[in-house]
Amino acid sequence: MYNFDKIVNRKNTNCYKWDSLTTKYEGIDDIIPMGIADMDFEVCDEIEKALKERTNHPVYGYSNDVNKELAPVIYERYKNKGYDIELEDILVATGVVYIVTHIIRTFTKKGDKIVLPTPYYSPFGSVIESNERIILPCEMKLIDGIYKMDLASIENQIDETTSMFIFCNPHNPTGRIFDKDEMLELIDFCQRHNLLIISDEIHSDFALTKPFYPIININKYAKDNTFTVSSCTKTFNLAGLKVAFCIISNPELKEKYNKAAIHTGLDSVNVFGIEAIKAAYSKSQKWEEEMLEYLKGNREYVLNFFEEKLPKIKINPSEGTYLLWIDFTKSGKEVEKIQNILINECRVELNDGRMYGNHVGFGRMNLAMPRCYIIEACNRIYEVFK
Ligand SMILES: Cc1ncc(COP(=O)(O)O)c(C=O)c1O
Repeated sequence: MYNFDKIVNRKNTNCYKWDSLTTKYEGIDDIIPMGIADMDFEVCDEIEKALKERTNHPVYGYSNDVNKELAPVIYERYKNKGYDIELEDILVATGVVYIVTHIIRTFTKKGDKIVLPTPYYSPFGSVIESNERIILPCEMKLIDGIYKMDLASIENQIDETTSMFIFCNPHNPTGRIFDKDEMLELIDFCQRHNLLIISDEIHSDFALTKPFYPIININKYAKDNTFTVSSCTKTFNLAGLKVAFCIISNPELKEKYNKAAIHTGLDSVNVFGIEAIKAAYSKSQKWEEEMLEYLKGNREYVLNFFEEKLPKIKINPSEGTYLLWIDFTKSGKEVEKIQNILINECRVELNDGRMYGNHVGFGRMNLAMPRCYIIEACNRIYEVFK
C-alpha cells in the first residue's frame, strides 16, 4: 500500500540530514547521508491528514493539559506492547534527550558518576558532562559476535557518588535487544549499588529479529527505580515535531520529577506533535507494518552484501533499531582515516564511531532510506574497500 522506494527531496527543508552536508563537506555535492537517525520516508497519510486538519485553525498557541489528551493514547499503545503500567505513569514531554537531561539534573548531583554502557548514543555523554556529572563508561564486550554488558569490569569503580545507570534498549548504536537474563543482571547490579535507572526505549518498535521486553516488567526494583523514556518520533518519522514521554511507576519519583518540571517548559508540547501522535498510534498501523518489512529488507541487503563482498568489514547484525554498527578496523585502511575515506572517496556519510565514546574505525549506518540509496552506498563502499 505504501511506497518506501519513493525518493523524497528533503533539501532546503531545514533538514539536518541533507541540508547540513553542504556546510560540513564543502565542494562535495553527491554524498549519501546515512548518519543522523531519521527516515527519508514520507509519513503515513493519516498523520499528514491530521496535521492538515490542525492547520484549519490558524492559531498555534501553547498546548493545554497534554497528559489528559495524550496519556490515554500512549497508555493503550504501551499496554498492547506488554508494558506493566498504569495510565497515570505516563508523562508527556518535548523530547527524550530533554527528559533525560531533566532526570539527571533532578535526581543526581554535580560530581556524581553515571554508568553508561559504551559505545553510547552521543547526547547521553554530552548531557552528563555538560551538567558536570561524570561518565562511568562500561565498555560492552563482543562475545561470539554479540555485544554484551561487562558489569564486572566496573564493579570496583562504583562508589557512593555513583547514582544512576543509563540503559538503552534496543541499543543505539549496536542494535542489541537485551535478553531478560541480561537485564536481570543489570537490575541486580543497580540494586546492589543503589542506582536509579534511565531506560531509553525509543527504538522498541524496531524489534527486527527478536522480541523486545521492557525493563520495568522484569521485577519490583526495576519498576520502582526506572524512568522509561520513549517516543513515537522514531517509528513514525516525526522527530522534528518534538514530542516524547516518560514512564514513572514510583509515586515518589514521579512527584519529584513533576515538581522540578514546573516552569521548565518540559511538558509544553508542540501542538502539531499532539495531533501526530494521536494519528500515529490510532490510524497508522498498516504503514508501520510495511515500513518495518521494508527496513528488514534493507538490513538483509546490507548484511548479505558485506558478508559476500567485503568480509573484512564486520557488521554487527543489529537485532533492533534501523541502525547498523560497522567495524572497519580490519578493512586494510588506516583506522584514523576511515571517516575521511568514506566521505571523500565513497561519498557516503556514516556517523563516525568517535561520537559514540571514541570508537575509532567504526561507523553507524542508518538504513531508513529508499533501497536505491542503500544499494548505491554499498556499491560505492565496495569500489573503495574491495
Ligand atoms: C536512543 C535515542 N534516544 C533519543 C533520541 C532522540 O530523541 P528526541 O529527539 O526525542 O530527543 C534518539 C535519536 O536518535 C535515540 O537514538
